Amino acid sequence: MWHRIAAIADCPPGACLEAVAADRIVALYNVDGQFHALDGVCPHQGGPLGKGQLAGCIVTCPWHGWQFDVRTGQHQLSATIRQERFETRVDGEEVFADLP
Ligand code: FES
Repeated sequence: MWHRIAAIADCPPGACLEAVAADRIVALYNVDGQFHALDGVCPHQGGPLGKGQLAGCIVTCPWHGWQFDVRTGQHQLSATIRQERFETRVDGEEVFADLP
């Protein structure tokens, strides 16, 4: 089901943010104008992935530095860890994510 996450203006290229929608914490990323969304709770110890450092398509968790590709949710060191990701779409001036 599609849920509004943020206004486009709130998440310019290279930025990320954290939002709550459908009782989920969602991390939204803008990579060169393309939006990507992940489950915002880091699978390590629950750090806020929406408040991490985004470099290109890689976000670094602010708590202990785990890194994920925001396009896929793939952990950068462990092949077996993949963070849940959500489809996104832009409608007007707003970004939506398809949350289960
Ligand atoms: S909570 Fe994210 S790296 Fe530890």
